[in-house]
Amino acid sequence: MEKFIIAGGQQLDGKLKVHGAKNAALPILAASLVAGHSTIHNCPNLTDVDAACRILTHLGAKALRHGDAVTVEPEGEGICYIPEELMHRMRSSIVFLGAVIARCGRARISMPGGCELGPRPIDLHLAALERLGVEITEDHGFLDCQVHGRLHGAQISLPFPSVGATENVLIAASLAQGETILKNAAREPEIADLIEFLNEAGAKINLTPQGDLHIKGVKYLGEVEHRVIPDRIAAATYLCAVAAAGGKIELEDVCSEHLSAVLPYFEEMGCRLTIKPDSIQMAREGILHPLEQVRTMPYPGFPTDAQSPLMAAACVAEGTSIFIENIFESRYKHVPELCRMGADIKAEGRVAVVRGVPALHSAKVFCTDLRGGAAIAVGALAAEGNTELLSIEHIDRGYENFEGNLQALGARIKRVPCPDSIHY
Ligand code: EPZ
Repeated sequence: MEKFIIAGGQQLDGKLKVHGAKNAALPILAASLVAGHSTIHNCPNLTDVDAACRILTHLGAKALRHGDAVTVEPEGEGICYIPEELMHRMRSSIVFLGAVIARCGRARISMPGGCELGPRPIDLHLAALERLGVEITEDHGFLDCQVHGRLHGAQISLPFPSVGATENVLIAASLAQGETILKNAAREPEIADLIEFLNEAGAKINLTPQGDLHIKGVKYLGEVEHRVIPDRIAAATYLCAVAAAGGKIELEDVCSEHLSAVLPYFEEMGCRLTIKPDSIQMAREGILHPLEQVRTMPYPGFPTDAQSPLMAAACVAEGTSIFIENIFESRYKHVPELCRMGADIKAEGRVAVVRGVPALHSAKVFCTDLRGGAAIAVGALAAEGNTELLSIEHIDRGYENFEGNLQALGARIKRVPCPDSIHY
C-alpha cells in the first residue's frame, strides 16, 4: 500500500502531455479479442489496463506492452469463462461479455458486484444481448450465456444511452448475422473511438444523422493498428488542479472538442483559456468565481467523471456553486473527505451545494473512488499544510504517472509506502 503526501499552497506552472483515454482503451482491448492481431498505440499504462490485459491472457490471447502500445494476438478457440477474481479486479470487465460471446458462442461470468458509485446494474447490457440471440440464465451469482447458432442482427433501443451497453452491442453485433440498428446509443468520444477500431478491423458500423448506429455483421474481423484518443477526463482533472491551486498550464495531445462541455466552466470561474484543436492553455491568476450550476449529462453534456475534480476547485471559489449529478446514484463519496479538509459542501440526493471557503486545510483523507480520489488530490494541492492521501490505488486505475505529472507542474507531492493503511 502507498499514499501521497501533498504539501499544498503551491501555484502550478508547466506543460503536460495527456495520456490515452482509459475508457477508450478498455473496450478496445475487449474488442481486440475478436479481431486479428491488434496494435493499440497510446494505450495508457494504468492498473485497469493491466487488469484488462490479464483478462485477455486468461481468455487465451497474448497481450503484451511495448512502450505506449499494447499488442493483442488472440489464439486458438478461446476460453469462455472469466473467473470472479478477474471480474472484480476491474468493475468495467462487463465490457468483455459481448466479445466473449461473439468469439465462443457462450460465456460464463460472475455477476459484477455493487461498487463505489452505487449499484451498477447490467440489465441494459443483458437485454440488448438477448435481442441479438443470447440466452441468459442466472446461476448462483453467475451468468450463463449461450447462443444457438450465430448471433443475429436486431433492432435495439436503449432506455438510457449506457456507455457499456452500447460497447457490448457494438462488439457483439459486428460479428452477428445481418444488420443491427441501435437507437439511443451512447455518443461519448470513447464510443466513436471503439467504432473506429472495429471499422479499421473490418466491421461495418455507421452512425446515421439521427444518431442511430447501423451495424452490418461480418464473419471475421482482421488485423488492426489503432491510436487511442486522448483522455478528456485526465485533461479536465489537471485543469481543475490549476483552477484550484492557481498558476498556468499548457496541455498537449488533447482533443479540445471532446472537452467542449467542460471548458466553459473554467471560463465561468474566471480562468483565461487559449484553446487550439490539440492543445489548451489555461491560467488562473485572480479569485475563483463560483459556478451557477453544473449538471452531469450523457455526452455531449458535462461528464460525470469530471464532476468531483471540478467540485474540489469550486470549494475555494468566492461564492456558492451548485452541482447536480444525473448519471450515478452515489457519486458524492468525495464530499465528506473534502469537508474534512475544511470544505463547506451539503450533498443531498443528486444535488450538492458548495459554499466556497477562503482556504482548505490539510487532513488525513482517503480516496473513495477513482475520480473522487483525484478530486481530493486537487483539493489538497490548494490546501494549506501537508495532506496525507490514502488508498491511492484508486487513482492508479485511471491516471498514468499522476504524481510525476503534478511534480512537473511544480506541485509538492510524493508517493510513500503506507504499510499499515486500511483499504477504504
Ligand atoms: C462508463 O461506465 C465509464 N466507464 C464511467 O467511467 C463513466 O462514468 C460512465 O460510462 C458514464 O459516462 C468506462 O468507460 C470503463 P453507463 P458505464 O453504463 O459504462 C445505469 C471512470 O471514472 N445503468 O453509461 O458503467 C448505471 O447504473 C468511470 O472512469 C443501468 O441502470 O456507464 C448508471 O447510473 C466510472 N443499467 C448509468 O446507467 C445498465 O445495464 C450510466 O452507466 C447499465 C447502466
